[in-house]
Amino acid sequence: MKAKAIAHPNIALVKYWGKRDQKLNLPAVGSISITLKEMYTITSVEFLEKLKQDVLILNGKEANQKQLNRVSSFLDIIRNEAGFDYKAKTISENNFPTGAGLASSASAFASLALAGTEAAQLSYTKTELSELARRGSGSAPRSIFGGFVEMKTGELSNGSDAVAIQLADEHHWDIKIMVIITSENYKTVSSTNGMTLTAKTSPFYEQWVISSQNDLNAMRDAILNRNFSKLGELAEFSCLKMHAVALSANPGIIYWNPITIKCIELIRKMRQEGIPVYFTIDAGPQVKAICLPQYLESIKLELSKIDGINKIITTSLGSGAIIMEE
Ligand code: DP6
Repeated sequence: MKAKAIAHPNIALVKYWGKRDQKLNLPAVGSISITLKEMYTITSVEFLEKLKQDVLILNGKEANQKQLNRVSSFLDIIRNEAGFDYKAKTISENNFPTGAGLASSASAFASLALAGTEAAQLSYTKTELSELARRGSGSAPRSIFGGFVEMKTGELSNGSDAVAIQLADEHHWDIKIMVIITSENYKTVSSTNGMTLTAKTSPFYEQWVISSQNDLNAMRDAILNRNFSKLGELAEFSCLKMHAVALSANPGIIYWNPITIKCIELIRKMRQEGIPVYFTIDAGPQVKAICLPQYLESIKLELSKIDGINKIITTSLGSGAIIMEE
């Protein structure tokens, strides 16, 4: 009763921010993402009759109680479905900084959903896996698939239609992403808490939810027609709108640092000079720059001149979650 799986993080081009149901973790808005090839989480799960409680090792260290509780409740869903109560030993490793706003929860729960169901001998379709991964984190269903992925809000109260679908695979369009680490060490408001506070207090929240529908429709078109400037403009629009609605919460949530702003300014300056490059930013200070392959090296060179950037990870589009042989 043991299995190992790999999944890649993703970044949203049209952002998810807000839940329509907290318990089942149902999103209030749909989202569209790309899966990142060079970054990954590998998770192995082993259910053992003799274990008294769940054990979780994260990046070589025993996890804290909060992390363990989150994984145990997720494994409970699998145990319930499989009809047994064996505890599990889970080992999970990222090849990128954890908790630095780099969507580690997406690749973590996508790989955990796949390894966990496989170890429990449940055979889930990708759609069912995405529904399960959502219970761990709202962005995780998207990491079940590779390439360009849409997460649906769904309409049903049981969440069975709040799943991810693949819009196009990773070979559809060669897009490059530079993940610019502006800080490896910061504390911020978690996405979950940020979303709850925004929905409760922002006077703009309702408009954010309503207007996301247009962004999703336009982004789907831009992807299918390989219209890069449309994709980039929409990504910046959705990102800035998400941060604007978070800023308008009470108290306002600020995820950026001064280097984040410098990156934004430089990316827009490069664009004025004729280089097609766009940014997106999640619930943290890291900036993701998006471009076509022929511009990658010159953009990276420019960005690396910004003082205070810790590291730039360059990546293409990657595949969905898969089982690894032991
Ligand atoms: C800003 O998936 O981390 O990255 O569902 O509460 O676990 P939970 O939230 P999470 O939120 C991601 C928010 C975002 C935008 C996005 O990825 O769509």
